[in-house]
Amino acid sequence: MSEPHAVPVITVDGPGGSGKGTVCLLLAEKLGWHVLDSGSLYRLIALQALQQNIKNDSQIVELARDMDVEYLPAGDHLQIMLQGRDVTEAVRAEAVGNKASEIAASAPVRQALLRRQREFARPPGLLADGRDMGTVVFPQAPLKIFLTASAEERAKRRYKQLKDKGMDANLPALVAELEARDRRDSERSAAPLKAADDAVLVDTTDMGIDEVVDRVMHMASLRLGGSVV
Ligand code: C5P
Repeated sequence: MSEPHAVPVITVDGPGGSGKGTVCLLLAEKLGWHVLDSGSLYRLIALQALQQNIKNDSQIVELARDMDVEYLPAGDHLQIMLQGRDVTEAVRAEAVGNKASEIAASAPVRQALLRRQREFARPPGLLADGRDMGTVVFPQAPLKIFLTASAEERAKRRYKQLKDKGMDANLPALVAELEARDRRDSERSAAPLKAADDAVLVDTTDMGIDEVVDRVMHMASLRLGGSVV
């Protein structure tokens, strides 16, 4: 198993729609680093549980431990392969996200995913996107970012993403779903969504994505020096 902290890790945590995914991909491209989209792991378990109608807790833990997943670089995103099938679009569905948030409250599922997540830390570095990257998965990361934005702004971003893909979307329903998911993610006892004590908080409500990326790059060059230049 690779040493989890032998390579530099930047953790980017925060609620859904705060811009974590885009920021991590853009930073990874600038730095030539790897990306861990940890939310997609919970979504992959949810997708299989929904498709196979699996409700039993121990079977869900088995999925977390044994699923065969591969991430392939595909331009501005990662292609997600599950047992050789392209599920990149399927895992983004709102129903899958909601099921993922339900499954993510399970401590045994989180435990089963720990090692898999830490194995993403490979040279030259890792951008880790999630809810508990800085608090649980990579507690010794030299730079931890916590991105926030108002629920309205986050819902607007998700609305635009869905519309751009030609999908149906309803703004008030998205605000309500985001708030419900935030509540569930923040109130659960297993690795709740919260900023690590040593995380830097960045409110992206009124910021463009390039501005967020520049801010994090600046912090990375101060904290990590040689590893990011
Ligand atoms: O970030 P994304 O919306 O893809 O995550 C889906 C769900 O997975 C979240 O609502 C959250 O409940 C869960 N999650 C988590 N811990 C992570 C990443 C995601 O609990 N590190």
